[in-house]
Amino acid sequence: MAKFHTLKVSDIKRETKDSVSVAFEVPAELKNDYKYTQGQYLTFKKMMDGEEIRRSYSICTSPIVDNELRIAVKEVEGGKMSPFLNQKLTVGETMEVMTPMGNFYTEVNESNRKNYVLFAGGSGITPINGIIKTILAVEKNSKIKLIYANKNEFSVIFKEAIENLANKHENLEVIYVYDQAPANFDDLHAGLMTRQKVLELVEHHDAINNTDEFFVCGPTPMMNNITDVLQNLGVDKKKVHIEYFTTVLDDIAKEEAKSKPSESDFSGTASIKVILDGDEEEFELDANGDSILDAAIDAGLDVPFSCKGAVCCTCRAKVMEGKVEMDMNYALEEDEVEQGFVLTCQSHPRSERVVVDFDQM
Ligand code: FES
Repeated sequence: MAKFHTLKVSDIKRETKDSVSVAFEVPAELKNDYKYTQGQYLTFKKMMDGEEIRRSYSICTSPIVDNELRIAVKEVEGGKMSPFLNQKLTVGETMEVMTPMGNFYTEVNESNRKNYVLFAGGSGITPINGIIKTILAVEKNSKIKLIYANKNEFSVIFKEAIENLANKHENLEVIYVYDQAPANFDDLHAGLMTRQKVLELVEHHDAINNTDEFFVCGPTPMMNNITDVLQNLGVDKKKVHIEYFTTVLDDIAKEEAKSKPSESDFSGTASIKVILDGDEEEFELDANGDSILDAAIDAGLDVPFSCKGAVCCTCRAKVMEGKVEMDMNYALEEDEVEQGFVLTCQSHPRSERVVVDFDQM
């Protein structure tokens, strides 16, 4: 089960004017807990102004290539955790860090001969950097196209590292797109990643035919445009890995999602059993009340969570008995849902008895 531990900051590197990467020292006794897969993320918690703030940031390193655990963080104006990590955190300080989570990855295998297309927007490069390094190290016969959109040349995170990789590996092609492009850029590679721009880019760079897997991570409007274009071009959804880092919906849309009509006619009070770290706890919950996660927190359980917005999957648990319904899901894959996994921050009981197990992986 995902757990917080105290880790010491071993290095901080300024990547761009408004982003840093932060590496953590993992003590020998926690090495197994912090084993990760490329593309996963870490969740941090910190008391700030009397309030516990939790945020998740993607790991930018590769478990195969790099001998360290490092995240990258872009400073969000008006944010809390990202300005702290960018401006105040110092080497040697400690942070409360949850063990790695997330499913934004594919299994790599040296016998694979795949074509990958990866779309990154701004700090969306963070998980993609680890994915690229891992594929290049393991799958010598696979090909990668990275379409990397940024505001301008100076806001490109990991530019030098990515260029070094492209110089060293013929099977990595990097295509830059800038909102504010330099004069030597053609129109195709300048401007925002609108649907039209994405369509033109994938056609020009032959990024659809024979592509086995797509990865998409960046600002929500860009991601929506890319996934719409891929869908319209008939790309099978199962080939597309998506990682949202922020809540996808605004507050009004969230309320609408919460109040959407239930597919179940169960409307009473359910008895909920939560299994966490081998312990069991029971409480009652109204079908139209809080989420199972919030009710578990109110019951005093230290259940894992981060975004509470259906995007990070930190609150994932398996329904072992009974039925639940989720308001939204932008994090679980179809097959995980079929296996009974739910986002507990979005889940409401739809049967008299529900058992959810946070220990199931
Ligand atoms: S806490 Fe992020 S999806 Fe539930």
